Amino acid sequence: MKIVCIGAGYVGGPTMAMIAYKCPEIQVVVVDINQARIDAWNQLDGCELPIYEPGLEEVVQAARGRNLFFSSDTHKHVAEGDIIFVSVNTPTKTRGVGAGKAADLTYWEGAARMIASVSTTSKIVVEKSTVPVKTAEAIEKVLRRNCADPNVQFEILSNPEFLAEGTAIEDLTVPDRVLIGGKETESGQRALAVLKSVYQHWVPDERILCTNLWSAELSKLTANAMLAQRISSVNTISALCEATGADVQQVAHSIGTDSRIGPKFLNASVGFGGSCFQKDILNLVYICEGVGLKQVADYWQSVVSINDYQKQRFVERIIEAMFNTISGKKIAVLGFAFKKDTGDTRETPAIDVCKGLTQDGAKLVIYDPKVTEAQIHQDLATPKFEWDHPQSSGTKSPRSSAITVVEDAYEACEGAHGITILTEWDEFKKLDFEKIYASMMKPAFVFDGRNILDHAKLREIGYIVYALGKPLDPFLKRG
Ligand code: UDX
Ligand code: ADP
Repeated sequence: MKIVCIGAGYVGGPTMAMIAYKCPEIQVVVVDINQARIDAWNQLDGCELPIYEPGLEEVVQAARGRNLFFSSDTHKHVAEGDIIFVSVNTPTKTRGVGAGKAADLTYWEGAARMIASVSTTSKIVVEKSTVPVKTAEAIEKVLRRNCADPNVQFEILSNPEFLAEGTAIEDLTVPDRVLIGGKETESGQRALAVLKSVYQHWVPDERILCTNLWSAELSKLTANAMLAQRISSVNTISALCEATGADVQQVAHSIGTDSRIGPKFLNASVGFGGSCFQKDILNLVYICEGVGLKQVADYWQSVVSINDYQKQRFVERIIEAMFNTISGKKIAVLGFAFKKDTGDTRETPAIDVCKGLTQDGAKLVIYDPKVTEAQIHQDLATPKFEWDHPQSSGTKSPRSSAITVVEDAYEACEGAHGITILTEWDEFKKLDFEKIYASMMKPAFVFDGRNILDHAKLREIGYIVYALGKPLDPFLKRG
């Protein structure tokens, strides 16, 4: 059996590496039109892979060259494949009907047309990237109408990926579940059994859930929407805590011990980020609007609106605390990735927070252990939703002179009026805050957008501390 995956990104790369690692008798080839990305996956040992993910290097090293290959020869490998996973970008549309909400399926359709044009044998085509409900129907039409050989059959399956970045290898090794959706026809069920047999190499049967196609597609959108909704819910409560003197961490812990609620995904934060949550919810909203479910659409839209509100609220707190002006003031930004243990910055809350601060005239000095200087400048110059449209990457504005990126947290904080924590990197907890305090302007502020620091200790040192959803420092209270 030969498996081919179109798209060597955050999902395609690790997922295929794990399949190859666990199934030595199956040949797995990951293809991408981005030659630089393929080259990076093929780097010799010791060089960095194109994405940072704990444990990924070991898995890739064990399988690469044995039964795992990365190639830009998409046509050849797709033609030879029995199972074709499609894991390409599904950005939010930036123009035209549904702009700002609907998924742009340009890359998906391009991949489907290519599969159809090169296929001389029947194939199972698997939706791996998150797609709107009923995408399989559209893709099937594209495949059938564009394949010259009438004997070639395509079976479409939906096999959404639930891995989270930073824990991808753990999530892939011991998944909560693997979900496979297929048509309820004989050939659909046969295809489903073939894909199931791949996962059965390491995933217990009871964790492989089989549904119809539309349920699988919708389950992925719903899972992300529900997770994001929990964060927005706790973030609304963080605002209420600040107004009432309650502590959001105590509230989250108290409610999380209720087994019906559970303790996970209740950390108040400066906002959720990542390539999926916002995009998938907007997509859900668009679908609901399309079928006339306005109230349902409004409900899910509010999850995104609250996330925007939380980022804005954080910026306003900083400005207000610093005597209503941050113009010309230096603010250290610790953390830019959308969460710890990843170098990924897609939809990171740091983008909106940094833009908000520079709009008010602040000078930012940014440090993140895994995000490059070039990436930070690019992110801060890219218009909303454009990041996932590779073809538009040529339209960059010049670098902002208000942004400096440094390679050390102490350097970032030197001479700063305030420090903001935007990513919960463990190394920030271990910083010498006495030393930092001595190097800062006074009064020295800390704005902890992830609640990871020891706030009592910081106050003892002399900092004025704002912590999300915590009783306000008397210095920060109005009047
Ligand atoms: C998410 C889903 O978890 C995963 O199943 C899906 O396949 C892809 O989208 P990911 O985006 O990698 O994964 O990260 P996740 O751990 O879900 O975090 C998303 C965002 O929420 C991050 O910005 C994180 O900091 C934030 N978050 C998470 C909180 O603010 N509070 C929490 O309690 C948890
Ligand atoms: P994800 O997080 O879903 O994995 P990424 O943006 O990291 O998304 O990866 C998607 C990859 O798909 C990119 O590397 C892009 O170059 C690739 N891609 C997009 N369209 C095609 C195509 N038609 N053929 C091959 N690769 C493609």
